[in-house]
Amino acid sequence: MDKLVIEGGVPLTGVIEVSGAKNAALPILFASILLDGPVSISNVPDLRDIHTTLKLLNLLGCACDYQNGRVEARPGDLLPEAPYDLVRTMRASVLCLGPLLARIGRARVALPGGCAIGARPVDQHLKGLERMGASFQLEEGYILGRCRRLKGAHIILDMPTVGGTENLLMAAALAEGETVLENAAREPEVVDLANFLRACGAQIEGHGTPSIRIRGVPTLHGGEYAVMPDRIEAGTFLVAAGITGGELLLRHCPFEELEAVILKLRSMGMEISQTPEGTLARRGATLHATDVTTQPYPGFPTDMQAQIMALMCLADGAGVVEESIFENRYMHVQELNRMGARIRVSGYTAMIRGVQKLTGAPVMASDLRASASLVLAGLAARGTTEVRRIYHLDRGYERIESKLNAVGARIRRERE
Ligand code: UD1
Repeated sequence: MDKLVIEGGVPLTGVIEVSGAKNAALPILFASILLDGPVSISNVPDLRDIHTTLKLLNLLGCACDYQNGRVEARPGDLLPEAPYDLVRTMRASVLCLGPLLARIGRARVALPGGCAIGARPVDQHLKGLERMGASFQLEEGYILGRCRRLKGAHIILDMPTVGGTENLLMAAALAEGETVLENAAREPEVVDLANFLRACGAQIEGHGTPSIRIRGVPTLHGGEYAVMPDRIEAGTFLVAAGITGGELLLRHCPFEELEAVILKLRSMGMEISQTPEGTLARRGATLHATDVTTQPYPGFPTDMQAQIMALMCLADGAGVVEESIFENRYMHVQELNRMGARIRVSGYTAMIRGVQKLTGAPVMASDLRASASLVLAGLAARGTTEVRRIYHLDRGYERIESKLNAVGARIRRERE
């Protein structure tokens, strides 16, 4: 297992390229199951979750090659089985359920694992697919799904689940008749998936709003598509500029999709502007505390909660973070406290009192975004921070240490 060793205290300055969005690339790759012809998908980040997905797609009968950020996928004769060994490492594997049912009317998919950030059920995915005519059984930890051709339906989600919206969107694209998805997720990654499907011939309207209308078509063709840039990776680098007191220019930063994050960072005293070359971020004279509540898009993303909390640790005054999406997403707190932060958690709420400095310490990464917050804290801390169990980080950040070292950080990867 690898760990990152960070010598903190260097202001980061320079240019960073933002990679393609993991959370958009994953559903788009799974959507290639739906296609009749080959597809070429570019701007796909080189990440562990992407390689897990490609392995799974190859097993399912959709042949995929990855080279230089581009996936060439050729759907062939499909098999229905997504085995536990792959699914347990990545919750998003459940996104093959809708496409398999739409395409071959059968799916046997292990119940997902993934980040340890709460119970994270998939009931909304299943209920929606049942409305479209599928039936499910649970057998030895596997979801067994069957259907004849799926039929369009009127579906109201209990909550705007991102994965649920994506699974149903993909299934509805090939269903017979019209599907209306209400209380749908509005996340930019859902919009990117819808745009990909439209590029392959799907008839979708209203993506990016809470009501998506899909007219099923008999077949979808292949084509070419470029994945959107990663707003969470970009947001993490914005915080890196603020927490180290440096100045970073982010190329391909999805500025509009990061509006809620940028407004919060500005209210804390960061200066962030859009220039012809990219997004420029630096810390102003002082960092001020703020309050943050995570919300579905366009609200403040739960995937940036841990990172902004690291920044709040070094702000003037006290602020409150409320996590409203996941029930167990404060595992970075005790690690940040070991570095000298003053954070107290009560239920879904964390109270952060700013301190003058953080000090390096050995810390343990527990999930993807928690790991990012520990790296950020390590960049700002005095002394050496060792972030252990960084396999979480490798699931979601492409070449993070080389990107950060190129702008002045001192990070090395070592075997534990
Ligand atoms: C996606 C993102 C993840 C992000 C999350 C919220 C991917 C691969 N992952 O995860 O990075 O943190 O959106 O923005 O895109 N829920 C149910 N029943 C369901 C589905 C969800 O109760 O059937 C609940 C979950 O437990 C959670 C909330 O709904 O409390 C939101 O989950 P969801 O939007 O589905 O997140 P994911 O798609 O898993």
